[in-house]
Amino acid sequence: MISQQKFYITTPIYYVNDKPHIGHAYTTIAADVIARYYRLLEYSVFFLTGTDEHGAKVVQSAKTRGKSPKIYASEIAKEFINIWKKLNISNDFFIRTTDSRHEEKVKEVLQKIYSKGYIYEGVYKGSYCIGCEKYLTKDEIVNNHCLLHPNQKIIYQKEKNYFFKLSRFENQLLSIYLNSQNKNHLAILPKDKAKEIVGKLKEGLNDIPISREHIDWGIKLPWDSSQSCYVWVDALFNYWTATRFIKHKNEFWPPNLQLIGKDILWFHAVIWPALLLAADLSLPKKIFAHGFFTINGKKMSKSVGNTITPQKLIRVFGVDATRYLLLSGFSFGSDGDVSISAFNLNYNAQLANGLGNLTSRIIKLINDIDFKPPYSILEGNISSLMKDDRFKFYHRSMTNLEFDKTIKFIQEKIREIDKVLDKEKPWRLKKTNSTLFKKVLNELLLSLFEISLLIEPFMPQTSHKIKNALLEPKRLSGTKLFPRI
Ligand code: MSP
Repeated sequence: MISQQKFYITTPIYYVNDKPHIGHAYTTIAADVIARYYRLLEYSVFFLTGTDEHGAKVVQSAKTRGKSPKIYASEIAKEFINIWKKLNISNDFFIRTTDSRHEEKVKEVLQKIYSKGYIYEGVYKGSYCIGCEKYLTKDEIVNNHCLLHPNQKIIYQKEKNYFFKLSRFENQLLSIYLNSQNKNHLAILPKDKAKEIVGKLKEGLNDIPISREHIDWGIKLPWDSSQSCYVWVDALFNYWTATRFIKHKNEFWPPNLQLIGKDILWFHAVIWPALLLAADLSLPKKIFAHGFFTINGKKMSKSVGNTITPQKLIRVFGVDATRYLLLSGFSFGSDGDVSISAFNLNYNAQLANGLGNLTSRIIKLINDIDFKPPYSILEGNISSLMKDDRFKFYHRSMTNLEFDKTIKFIQEKIREIDKVLDKEKPWRLKKTNSTLFKKVLNELLLSLFEISLLIEPFMPQTSHKIKNALLEPKRLSGTKLFPRI
Protein backbone atom coordinates (compact mmCIF):
# COMPACT_ATOMS: atom_id res chain seq x y z
CA MET A 1 0.00 0.00 0.00
CA ILE A 2 1.19 3.51 -0.78
CA SER A 3 0.02 5.86 1.92
CA GLN A 4 1.39 9.23 0.88
CA GLN A 5 -0.30 11.68 -1.46
CA LYS A 6 0.06 10.41 -4.99
CA PHE A 7 1.12 12.23 -8.10
CA TYR A 8 1.01 10.56 -11.52
CA ILE A 9 2.73 12.43 -14.34
CA THR A 10 3.20 11.40 -17.96
CA THR A 11 4.98 12.54 -21.12
CA PRO A 12 3.81 11.50 -24.57
CA ILE A 13 5.35 8.27 -25.77
CA TYR A 14 7.74 9.04 -28.60
CA TYR A 15 7.62 7.58 -32.10
CA VAL A 16 10.54 5.36 -32.83
CA ASN A 17 10.72 6.43 -36.47
CA ASP A 18 13.30 9.00 -35.56
CA LYS A 19 16.08 9.57 -33.03
CA PRO A 20 15.48 11.80 -30.01
CA HIS A 21 15.86 15.55 -30.54
CA ILE A 22 15.54 18.51 -28.19
CA GLY A 23 11.77 18.77 -28.85
CA HIS A 24 11.36 15.36 -27.20
CA ALA A 25 13.82 16.31 -24.49
CA TYR A 26 11.83 19.47 -23.75
CA THR A 27 8.70 17.59 -22.65
CA THR A 28 10.68 14.96 -20.82
CA ILE A 29 12.89 17.36 -18.86
CA ALA A 30 9.86 19.44 -17.90
CA ALA A 31 8.11 16.32 -16.61
CA ASP A 32 11.25 15.32 -14.75
CA VAL A 33 11.51 18.69 -13.02
CA ILE A 34 7.90 18.40 -11.85
CA ALA A 35 8.32 14.75 -10.81
CA ARG A 36 11.43 15.61 -8.81
CA TYR A 37 9.72 18.59 -7.21
CA TYR A 38 6.73 16.54 -6.06
CA ARG A 39 9.04 13.82 -4.73
CA LEU A 40 10.91 16.48 -2.77
CA LEU A 41 7.55 17.62 -1.41
CA GLU A 42 7.17 14.04 -0.21
CA TYR A 43 4.51 12.91 -2.64
CA SER A 44 4.56 9.39 -3.88
CA VAL A 45 5.25 9.94 -7.58
CA PHE A 46 4.79 7.78 -10.63
CA PHE A 47 6.50 9.28 -13.66
CA LEU A 48 5.87 7.49 -16.94
CA THR A 49 7.47 7.90 -20.36
CA GLY A 50 8.10 5.51 -23.21
CA THR A 51 7.98 4.79 -26.92
CA ASP A 52 5.17 4.53 -29.47
CA GLU A 53 6.28 1.68 -31.68
CA HIS A 54 3.40 0.64 -33.95
CA GLY A 55 2.03 2.41 -37.00
CA ALA A 56 2.89 2.94 -40.64
CA LYS A 57 5.51 5.58 -39.87
CA VAL A 58 7.71 3.07 -38.06
CA VAL A 59 7.20 0.43 -40.77
CA GLN A 60 8.22 2.97 -43.40
CA SER A 61 11.35 4.10 -41.53
CA ALA A 62 12.39 0.51 -40.85
CA LYS A 63 11.91 -0.43 -44.50
CA THR A 64 14.09 2.38 -45.83
CA ARG A 65 16.84 1.04 -43.58
CA GLY A 66 16.32 -2.55 -44.66
CA LYS A 67 15.31 -3.60 -41.16
CA SER A 68 12.30 -5.28 -39.64
CA PRO A 69 10.03 -2.91 -37.67
CA LYS A 70 10.69 -4.96 -34.55
CA ILE A 71 14.49 -4.65 -34.72
CA TYR A 72 14.35 -1.03 -35.81
CA ALA A 73 11.89 -0.10 -33.04
CA SER A 74 14.10 -1.76 -30.44
CA GLU A 75 17.17 0.10 -31.64
CA ILE A 76 15.49 3.49 -31.44
CA ALA A 77 13.74 2.69 -28.15
CA LYS A 78 17.22 2.01 -26.75
CA GLU A 79 18.33 5.46 -27.95
CA PHE A 80 15.48 7.06 -26.00
CA ILE A 81 16.22 4.98 -22.90
CA ASN A 82 19.91 5.91 -23.06
CA ILE A 83 19.47 9.61 -23.62
CA TRP A 84 16.97 9.88 -20.76
CA LYS A 85 19.49 8.16 -18.49
CA LYS A 86 22.14 10.60 -19.64
CA LEU A 87 19.87 13.56 -18.98
CA ASN A 88 19.23 12.22 -15.49
CA ILE A 89 15.52 11.67 -16.14
CA SER A 90 13.97 10.01 -13.12
CA ASN A 91 11.10 8.16 -14.82
CA ASP A 92 9.73 5.28 -12.78
CA PHE A 93 8.90 3.19 -15.81
CA PHE A 94 9.54 3.17 -19.53
CA ILE A 95 6.64 1.72 -21.50
CA ARG A 96 7.00 0.31 -25.00
CA THR A 97 3.78 -0.28 -26.92
CA THR A 98 5.23 -3.52 -28.31
CA ASP A 99 5.38 -4.89 -24.76
CA SER A 100 2.98 -7.86 -24.79
CA ARG A 101 1.54 -6.78 -21.43
CA HIS A 102 0.51 -3.45 -22.96
CA GLU A 103 -0.92 -5.23 -26.01
CA GLU A 104 -3.04 -7.53 -23.85
CA LYS A 105 -4.47 -4.65 -21.83
CA VAL A 106 -5.29 -2.65 -24.98
CA LYS A 107 -7.21 -5.65 -26.33
CA GLU A 108 -9.06 -5.94 -23.05
CA VAL A 109 -10.16 -2.32 -22.98
CA LEU A 110 -11.11 -2.29 -26.68
CA GLN A 111 -13.25 -5.38 -26.15
CA LYS A 112 -14.99 -3.59 -23.30
CA ILE A 113 -15.71 -0.51 -25.43
CA TYR A 114 -16.90 -2.75 -28.29
CA SER A 115 -19.17 -4.77 -26.00
CA LYS A 116 -20.73 -1.55 -24.72
CA GLY A 117 -21.74 -0.68 -28.28
CA TYR A 118 -19.41 2.26 -28.86
CA ILE A 119 -17.66 0.66 -31.84
CA TYR A 120 -19.29 -0.27 -35.16
CA GLU A 121 -18.19 -1.52 -38.55
CA GLY A 122 -18.10 0.82 -41.52
CA VAL A 123 -16.18 1.78 -44.62
CA TYR A 124 -13.73 4.64 -44.63
CA LYS A 125 -12.84 6.60 -47.71
CA GLY A 126 -10.16 9.14 -47.20
CA SER A 127 -6.60 10.38 -47.43
CA TYR A 128 -4.13 9.07 -44.89
CA CYS A 129 -0.88 10.83 -44.07
CA ILE A 130 1.77 8.54 -42.60
CA GLY A 131 3.68 11.56 -41.27
CA CYS A 132 0.67 12.55 -39.15
CA GLU A 133 -0.52 8.96 -38.70
CA LYS A 134 -4.06 10.09 -39.36
CA TYR A 135 -6.74 10.68 -41.99
CA LEU A 136 -6.58 14.25 -43.19
CA THR A 137 -9.42 16.72 -43.31
CA LYS A 138 -9.93 18.85 -46.45
CA ASP A 139 -8.23 21.83 -44.79
CA GLU A 140 -5.13 19.78 -44.11
CA ILE A 141 -4.55 18.99 -47.80
CA VAL A 142 -2.89 21.55 -50.04
CA ASN A 143 -2.03 20.71 -53.67
CA ASN A 144 -2.60 17.05 -52.99
CA HIS A 145 -0.11 17.09 -50.14
CA CYS A 146 -0.35 17.15 -46.40
CA LEU A 147 0.15 20.62 -45.00
CA LEU A 148 2.57 19.40 -42.34
CA HIS A 149 4.35 16.70 -44.37
CA PRO A 150 4.73 17.95 -47.95
CA ASN A 151 7.34 15.26 -48.63
CA GLN A 152 5.05 12.39 -47.65
CA LYS A 153 2.82 10.77 -50.24
CA ILE A 154 -0.84 10.90 -49.25
CA ILE A 155 -2.44 7.48 -49.34
CA TYR A 156 -5.99 7.42 -50.73
CA GLN A 157 -7.87 4.47 -49.41
CA LYS A 158 -11.25 2.93 -49.10
CA GLU A 159 -11.35 0.13 -46.61
CA LYS A 160 -13.37 -1.60 -43.99
CA ASN A 161 -12.71 0.05 -40.64
CA TYR A 162 -14.23 -0.03 -37.22
CA PHE A 163 -15.49 3.32 -36.02
CA PHE A 164 -15.61 4.75 -32.55
CA LYS A 165 -18.77 6.73 -31.71
CA LEU A 166 -16.91 9.89 -30.82
CA SER A 167 -19.95 12.01 -31.71
CA ARG A 168 -21.80 10.53 -28.72
CA PHE A 169 -19.39 12.29 -26.35
CA GLU A 170 -19.73 15.86 -27.62
CA ASN A 171 -21.89 17.09 -24.75
CA GLN A 172 -20.08 15.15 -22.04
CA LEU A 173 -16.77 16.57 -23.24
CA LEU A 174 -18.11 20.10 -23.28
CA SER A 175 -19.33 19.61 -19.75
CA ILE A 176 -16.02 18.25 -18.43
CA TYR A 177 -14.29 21.35 -19.78
CA LEU A 178 -16.86 23.98 -18.96
CA ASN A 179 -18.23 22.76 -15.66
CA SER A 180 -15.68 22.68 -12.86
CA GLN A 181 -18.26 20.82 -10.69
CA ASN A 182 -18.34 17.90 -13.12
CA LYS A 183 -16.74 14.92 -11.34
CA ASN A 184 -14.67 14.32 -14.47
CA HIS A 185 -13.61 17.95 -14.78
CA LEU A 186 -10.39 18.12 -16.80
CA ALA A 187 -8.28 21.26 -16.97
CA ILE A 188 -6.42 22.13 -20.16
CA LEU A 189 -3.58 24.57 -19.83
CA PRO A 190 -2.63 27.11 -21.06
CA LYS A 191 -6.12 28.56 -20.98
CA ASP A 192 -6.14 29.71 -24.62
CA LYS A 193 -5.67 26.07 -25.63
CA ALA A 194 -8.73 25.09 -23.59
CA LYS A 195 -10.72 27.73 -25.47
CA GLU A 196 -9.57 26.32 -28.80
CA ILE A 197 -10.75 22.85 -27.85
CA VAL A 198 -14.11 24.05 -26.56
CA GLY A 199 -14.58 26.06 -29.76
CA LYS A 200 -13.91 23.00 -31.90
CA LEU A 201 -16.15 20.80 -29.77
CA LYS A 202 -18.98 23.26 -30.31
CA GLU A 203 -18.56 22.79 -34.08
CA GLY A 204 -19.47 19.11 -33.55
CA LEU A 205 -17.70 15.78 -33.60
CA ASN A 206 -17.62 13.01 -36.19
CA ASP A 207 -17.12 9.34 -35.41
CA ILE A 208 -13.57 8.23 -36.11
CA PRO A 209 -12.05 5.09 -37.59
CA ILE A 210 -10.07 3.26 -34.92
CA SER A 211 -8.73 0.36 -36.92
CA ARG A 212 -6.83 -0.25 -40.14
CA GLU A 213 -7.22 -3.22 -42.44
CA HIS A 214 -4.45 -5.79 -43.08
CA ILE A 215 -1.75 -3.97 -41.15
CA ASP A 216 0.53 -6.52 -39.57
CA TRP A 217 2.53 -4.14 -37.39
CA GLY A 218 -0.09 -3.33 -34.79
CA ILE A 219 -2.39 -4.77 -32.14
CA LYS A 220 -5.04 -7.03 -33.68
CA LEU A 221 -8.63 -6.30 -32.71
CA PRO A 222 -9.83 -9.06 -30.40
CA TRP A 223 -13.09 -9.55 -32.34
CA ASP A 224 -11.66 -9.23 -35.87
CA SER A 225 -8.07 -10.25 -36.48
CA SER A 226 -8.05 -8.84 -40.02
CA GLN A 227 -7.96 -5.38 -38.41
CA SER A 228 -5.30 -3.67 -36.32
CA CYS A 229 -5.93 -1.03 -33.74
CA TYR A 230 -5.22 2.49 -35.01
CA VAL A 231 -1.81 3.52 -33.69
CA TRP A 232 -3.09 6.57 -31.82
CA VAL A 233 -5.66 4.57 -29.86
CA ASP A 234 -3.03 1.96 -29.00
CA ALA A 235 -0.64 4.74 -27.96
CA LEU A 236 -3.08 6.77 -25.84
CA PHE A 237 -3.94 3.74 -23.76
CA ASN A 238 -0.29 3.40 -22.64
CA TYR A 239 -1.01 5.85 -19.83
CA TRP A 240 -3.57 3.42 -18.46
CA THR A 241 -2.06 0.04 -19.37
CA ALA A 242 1.20 0.82 -17.54
CA THR A 243 -0.76 1.30 -14.34
CA ARG A 244 -2.31 -2.15 -14.78
CA PHE A 245 0.76 -4.29 -15.17
CA ILE A 246 3.29 -2.63 -12.87
CA LYS A 247 3.00 -3.67 -9.26
CA HIS A 248 1.15 -1.14 -7.05
CA LYS A 249 0.89 1.39 -9.84
CA ASN A 250 -2.86 0.82 -10.23
CA GLU A 251 -3.23 3.07 -7.19
CA PHE A 252 -2.00 5.97 -9.29
CA TRP A 253 -4.84 6.07 -11.80
CA PRO A 254 -5.89 8.65 -13.05
CA PRO A 255 -2.96 10.89 -14.07
CA ASN A 256 -2.65 14.18 -12.21
CA LEU A 257 -0.75 15.83 -15.02
CA GLN A 258 -0.18 14.92 -18.65
CA LEU A 259 2.43 16.94 -20.49
CA ILE A 260 2.22 17.10 -24.26
CA GLY A 261 3.19 19.35 -27.16
CA LYS A 262 0.49 21.55 -28.68
CA ASP A 263 0.48 19.48 -31.90
CA ILE A 264 -1.12 16.50 -30.18
CA LEU A 265 -3.68 18.31 -28.05
CA TRP A 266 -6.72 17.18 -30.06
CA PHE A 267 -5.84 13.53 -29.49
CA HIS A 268 -5.35 14.11 -25.78
CA ALA A 269 -8.17 16.52 -25.09
CA VAL A 270 -10.91 14.96 -27.22
CA ILE A 271 -10.23 11.40 -28.35
CA TRP A 272 -8.47 10.28 -25.16
CA PRO A 273 -11.14 11.41 -22.65
CA ALA A 274 -13.90 10.06 -24.91
CA LEU A 275 -12.23 6.64 -25.02
CA LEU A 276 -11.91 6.70 -21.23
CA LEU A 277 -15.56 7.67 -20.78
CA ALA A 278 -16.57 4.84 -23.12
CA ALA A 279 -14.50 2.42 -21.03
CA ASP A 280 -15.89 3.74 -17.73
CA LEU A 281 -12.47 4.89 -16.58
CA SER A 282 -11.80 8.09 -14.70
CA LEU A 283 -10.23 11.00 -16.52
CA PRO A 284 -6.88 12.73 -16.04
CA LYS A 285 -6.99 15.90 -13.97
CA LYS A 286 -4.84 18.21 -16.03
CA ILE A 287 -3.29 18.38 -19.49
CA PHE A 288 -0.63 20.93 -20.27
CA ALA A 289 0.18 21.60 -23.94
CA HIS A 290 3.56 23.27 -24.36
CA GLY A 291 4.83 25.25 -27.31
CA PHE A 292 7.29 24.36 -30.03
CA PHE A 293 10.97 25.10 -30.52
CA THR A 294 11.97 26.67 -33.77
CA ILE A 295 15.62 26.90 -34.78
CA ASN A 296 16.67 30.29 -36.05
CA GLY A 297 13.03 30.92 -36.93
CA LYS A 298 12.53 27.63 -38.81
CA LYS A 299 10.59 24.55 -37.85
CA MET A 300 12.96 21.91 -36.50
CA SER A 301 12.86 18.92 -38.82
CA LYS A 302 15.02 16.21 -40.28
CA SER A 303 14.24 17.26 -43.83
CA VAL A 304 15.41 20.83 -43.18
CA GLY A 305 18.45 19.29 -41.48
CA ASN A 306 18.35 21.67 -38.52
CA THR A 307 17.58 19.32 -35.64
CA ILE A 308 19.58 19.75 -32.47
CA THR A 309 20.16 16.58 -30.51
CA PRO A 310 20.32 16.53 -26.72
CA GLN A 311 23.71 14.78 -27.08
CA LYS A 312 25.10 17.85 -28.80
CA LEU A 313 23.96 20.16 -26.00
CA ILE A 314 25.32 17.78 -23.35
CA ARG A 315 28.73 17.75 -25.09
CA VAL A 316 28.90 21.54 -25.08
CA PHE A 317 27.17 22.46 -21.81
CA GLY A 318 26.96 19.34 -19.65
CA VAL A 319 23.82 17.59 -18.40
CA ASP A 320 22.53 20.05 -15.82
CA ALA A 321 23.07 23.11 -17.96
CA THR A 322 21.27 21.41 -20.87
CA ARG A 323 18.26 20.78 -18.64
CA TYR A 324 18.35 24.36 -17.41
CA LEU A 325 18.86 26.00 -20.80
CA LEU A 326 16.01 24.11 -22.47
CA LEU A 327 13.50 25.18 -19.83
CA SER A 328 14.63 28.72 -19.15
CA GLY A 329 14.44 30.41 -22.57
CA PHE A 330 10.73 31.23 -22.76
CA SER A 331 7.39 30.43 -21.23
CA PHE A 332 6.47 26.74 -21.38
CA GLY A 333 3.13 27.36 -23.09
CA SER A 334 4.57 29.48 -25.93
CA ASP A 335 6.64 28.78 -29.00
CA GLY A 336 10.20 29.98 -28.91
CA ASP A 337 13.26 30.20 -31.05
CA VAL A 338 16.39 28.44 -29.89
CA SER A 339 19.94 28.46 -31.22
CA ILE A 340 23.31 27.33 -29.98
CA SER A 341 24.47 30.95 -29.79
CA ALA A 342 21.51 31.92 -27.57
CA PHE A 343 22.22 28.89 -25.36
CA ASN A 344 25.86 30.06 -25.15
CA LEU A 345 24.86 33.53 -24.04
CA ASN A 346 22.48 32.26 -21.36
CA TYR A 347 24.96 29.68 -20.17
CA ASN A 348 27.69 32.27 -19.66
CA ALA A 349 25.46 34.96 -18.16
CA GLN A 350 23.28 32.85 -15.88
CA LEU A 351 25.33 29.79 -15.05
CA ALA A 352 29.05 30.52 -15.45
CA ASN A 353 28.96 34.18 -14.35
CA GLY A 354 25.84 33.80 -12.22
CA LEU A 355 25.43 30.70 -10.08
CA GLY A 356 28.92 29.29 -10.76
CA ASN A 357 30.70 32.49 -9.87
CA LEU A 358 28.60 33.08 -6.76
CA THR A 359 29.33 29.59 -5.49
CA SER A 360 33.10 30.00 -6.01
CA ARG A 361 33.08 33.36 -4.24
CA ILE A 362 31.34 31.94 -1.17
CA ILE A 363 33.24 28.67 -1.00
CA LYS A 364 36.51 30.60 -1.35
CA LEU A 365 35.72 32.40 1.91
CA ILE A 366 35.74 29.15 3.84
CA ASN A 367 38.10 26.81 2.07
CA ASP A 368 41.26 28.21 3.63
CA ILE A 369 40.08 28.54 7.22
CA ASP A 370 39.44 25.93 9.82
CA PHE A 371 35.73 26.30 9.48
CA LYS A 372 32.91 24.18 10.82
CA PRO A 373 29.77 24.86 8.78
CA PRO A 374 26.75 25.64 10.93
CA TYR A 375 25.08 22.29 10.33
CA SER A 376 21.78 23.46 11.73
CA ILE A 377 21.20 25.74 8.75
CA LEU A 378 22.16 23.05 6.30
CA GLU A 379 19.49 20.70 7.42
CA GLY A 380 16.36 21.93 5.69
CA ASN A 381 14.83 20.61 2.51
CA ILE A 382 12.68 22.09 -0.18
CA SER A 383 9.55 20.98 1.60
CA SER A 384 10.45 23.01 4.70
CA LEU A 385 11.50 25.93 2.51
CA MET A 386 8.06 26.03 0.89
CA LYS A 387 6.45 26.71 4.26
CA ASP A 388 8.20 30.08 4.22
CA ASP A 389 6.23 32.88 2.53
CA ARG A 390 9.37 34.06 0.76
CA PHE A 391 9.07 31.05 -1.52
CA LYS A 392 5.37 31.22 -2.33
CA PHE A 393 6.15 32.53 -5.78
CA TYR A 394 8.54 29.66 -6.45
CA HIS A 395 5.92 27.08 -5.49
CA ARG A 396 3.14 28.73 -7.45
CA SER A 397 5.15 29.18 -10.63
CA MET A 398 6.54 25.65 -10.39
CA THR A 399 3.15 24.00 -9.94
CA ASN A 400 1.75 26.16 -12.77
CA LEU A 401 4.64 24.95 -14.95
CA GLU A 402 5.88 28.51 -15.41
CA PHE A 403 9.48 27.34 -15.42
CA ASP A 404 10.83 30.55 -16.92
CA LYS A 405 9.35 32.45 -13.96
CA THR A 406 10.70 29.98 -11.40
CA ILE A 407 14.14 30.31 -12.96
CA LYS A 408 13.91 34.12 -12.98
CA PHE A 409 13.05 33.96 -9.28
CA ILE A 410 16.19 31.89 -8.61
CA GLN A 411 18.30 34.27 -10.69
CA GLU A 412 16.93 37.19 -8.71
CA LYS A 413 17.94 35.47 -5.47
CA ILE A 414 21.44 34.89 -6.87
CA ARG A 415 21.77 38.58 -7.73
CA GLU A 416 20.62 39.52 -4.20
CA ILE A 417 23.31 37.33 -2.65
CA ASP A 418 25.92 38.79 -4.99
CA LYS A 419 24.88 42.23 -3.76
CA VAL A 420 25.37 41.19 -0.13
CA LEU A 421 28.85 39.98 -1.01
CA ASP A 422 29.71 43.22 -2.80
CA LYS A 423 28.35 45.34 0.03
CA GLU A 424 29.70 43.48 3.04
CA LYS A 425 33.04 42.47 1.52
CA PRO A 426 33.48 39.50 3.87
CA TRP A 427 37.02 38.79 2.58
CA ARG A 428 37.99 42.06 4.27
CA LEU A 429 35.92 41.42 7.40
CA LYS A 430 37.71 38.12 7.72
CA LYS A 431 40.87 40.03 8.60
CA THR A 432 39.31 42.95 10.49
CA ASN A 433 36.16 41.86 12.33
CA SER A 434 35.78 38.18 13.00
CA THR A 435 32.38 38.50 14.77
CA LEU A 436 30.80 40.38 11.90
CA PHE A 437 32.56 38.07 9.44
CA LYS A 438 30.91 35.04 11.02
CA LYS A 439 27.51 36.70 10.96
CA VAL A 440 27.76 37.67 7.28
CA LEU A 441 29.23 34.30 6.44
CA ASN A 442 26.35 32.43 8.07
CA GLU A 443 23.88 34.51 6.12
CA LEU A 444 25.73 33.80 2.87
CA LEU A 445 26.01 30.08 3.57
CA LEU A 446 22.35 29.81 4.35
CA SER A 447 21.42 31.70 1.18
CA LEU A 448 23.63 29.50 -0.96
CA PHE A 449 22.16 26.43 0.69
CA GLU A 450 18.67 27.69 -0.15
CA ILE A 451 19.75 28.17 -3.75
CA SER A 452 21.02 24.59 -3.83
CA LEU A 453 17.55 23.43 -2.75
CA LEU A 454 15.74 25.64 -5.24
CA ILE A 455 17.77 24.41 -8.20
CA GLU A 456 17.51 20.75 -7.24
CA PRO A 457 14.57 19.80 -9.51
CA PHE A 458 16.26 21.53 -12.48
CA MET A 459 19.91 20.69 -11.83
CA PRO A 460 20.13 17.80 -9.37
CA GLN A 461 23.86 17.18 -9.80
CA THR A 462 24.80 20.82 -9.35
CA SER A 463 22.58 21.02 -6.29
CA HIS A 464 24.44 18.09 -4.72
CA LYS A 465 27.82 19.57 -5.63
CA ILE A 466 26.91 22.81 -3.87
CA LYS A 467 25.63 21.00 -0.79
CA ASN A 468 28.79 18.92 -0.63
CA ALA A 469 30.97 21.99 -1.05
CA LEU A 470 29.20 23.66 1.86
CA LEU A 471 29.99 20.68 4.03
CA GLU A 472 33.47 20.11 2.66
CA PRO A 473 34.62 23.33 1.01
CA LYS A 474 37.95 21.90 -0.14
CA ARG A 475 36.14 19.48 -2.45
CA LEU A 476 35.12 22.26 -4.78
CA SER A 477 38.26 24.36 -4.52
CA GLY A 478 39.90 24.88 -7.89
CA THR A 479 37.04 23.32 -9.90
CA LYS A 480 34.31 25.36 -11.49
CA LEU A 481 30.64 24.38 -11.46
CA PHE A 482 30.19 25.90 -14.90
CA PRO A 483 33.43 26.65 -16.77
CA ARG A 484 33.02 29.64 -19.06
CA ILE A 485 32.55 28.83 -22.77
N1 MSP B 1 3.78 9.21 -30.61
C1 MSP B 1 3.07 10.44 -30.54
C2 MSP B 1 2.57 10.69 -29.13
C3 MSP B 1 1.67 9.63 -28.59
S1 MSP B 1 1.25 9.95 -26.93
C4 MSP B 1 0.06 8.88 -26.61
C5 MSP B 1 4.00 11.59 -30.94
N2 MSP B 1 5.28 11.35 -30.88
S2 MSP B 1 6.45 12.36 -31.37
O1 MSP B 1 7.67 11.66 -31.11
O2 MSP B 1 6.21 12.79 -32.69
O3 MSP B 1 6.34 13.66 -30.51
C6 MSP B 1 6.36 13.61 -29.13
C7 MSP B 1 6.39 14.95 -28.46
O4 MSP B 1 7.51 15.74 -28.87
C8 MSP B 1 5.15 15.78 -28.72
O5 MSP B 1 4.64 16.23 -27.48
C9 MSP B 1 5.64 16.92 -29.55
O6 MSP B 1 4.88 18.05 -29.31
C10 MSP B 1 7.07 17.07 -29.04
N3 MSP B 1 7.87 17.78 -30.02
C11 MSP B 1 8.24 17.36 -31.26
N4 MSP B 1 8.90 18.39 -31.89
C12 MSP B 1 8.95 19.47 -31.08
C13 MSP B 1 9.53 20.75 -31.15
N5 MSP B 1 10.15 21.18 -32.22
N6 MSP B 1 9.45 21.54 -30.04
C14 MSP B 1 8.85 21.13 -28.89
N7 MSP B 1 8.30 19.93 -28.80
C15 MSP B 1 8.23 19.11 -29.89
O7 MSP B 1 3.49 12.65 -31.28
